[in-house]
Amino acid sequence: QAAAGAGSESCAPPVCVLVLGMAGSGKTTLVQRLTAHLHSQNSPPYVVNLDPAVRELPFAANIDIRDTVKYKEVMKQYGLGPNGGIVTSLNLFATRFDQVMKFIEKRQNTSQYVLIDTPGQIEVFTWSASGTIITEALASTFPSVVVYVMDTSRSTNPITFMSNMLYACSILYKTKLPFILAMNKTDIIDHSFAVEWMQDFEIFQDALNQETTYVSNLTRSMSLVLDEFYSSLKVVGVSAVLGTGLDEFFVKVSEAVDEYEREY
Ligand code: GTP
Repeated sequence: QAAAGAGSESCAPPVCVLVLGMAGSGKTTLVQRLTAHLHSQNSPPYVVNLDPAVRELPFAANIDIRDTVKYKEVMKQYGLGPNGGIVTSLNLFATRFDQVMKFIEKRQNTSQYVLIDTPGQIEVFTWSASGTIITEALASTFPSVVVYVMDTSRSTNPITFMSNMLYACSILYKTKLPFILAMNKTDIIDHSFAVEWMQDFEIFQDALNQETTYVSNLTRSMSLVLDEFYSSLKVVGVSAVLGTGLDEFFVKVSEAVDEYEREY
């Protein structure tokens, strides 16, 4: 399957792109930019917003959780705080996800991609029953990839970077789906330092040498453990704000899906 731009009529099933990442990493901005990019390639995506608490969406979602579940009402009705409200809203929405699947299935001949924006707090999706139900429903019907968005500008400290990678690895472990690491905000800092850290253990060691703490020793051991994760990881640098790196992004998506389908 070619990268984005094959035209609006497509016979292959759409690829579901689940966009996950820490709060503020740029998920929503990336979904907006991917949507605009696909429109410009005459390949409009089907866009799903699963964040019940987002105030304004910078893109037009085909399916928006906020149309079905009113997050503030859920908080009041169940006497919950903000996080409980988001989790419960997602749970309520998951009970009707079969209807969402039907909508997506209807569009499968016209959209090459389904883009899915997830709640700000990543654990709401990755560690909830509803997140698992939604992911499994999508992945059992359509080729699906997880895109983990990393805020590159906030990962320049080797220990912070390692924490982020451990989180990414745990998501791969949990979803067992093709996985792409999108190093976002490359307009602020180029992602090459992070790629080097993943490719060359010595360079990562040098970066850690300023640290003398227990955490730094632990991080050294962890980087050896993560070597296997790094070696098969698909990495792409993007700037959701500038829209750079998106052609490469879609190439990685296609490669990830192809490899997955060959393996399973
Ligand atoms: P939550 O839903 O709150 O978790 O955030 P999110 O992960 O959806 O991130 P969002 O797209 O809201 O972006 C968070 C902030 O980062 C916003 O101020 C964006 O303008 C900014 N941002 C996102 N992508 C980029 C980027 O590529 N470059 C720069 N410089 N800023 C970015």
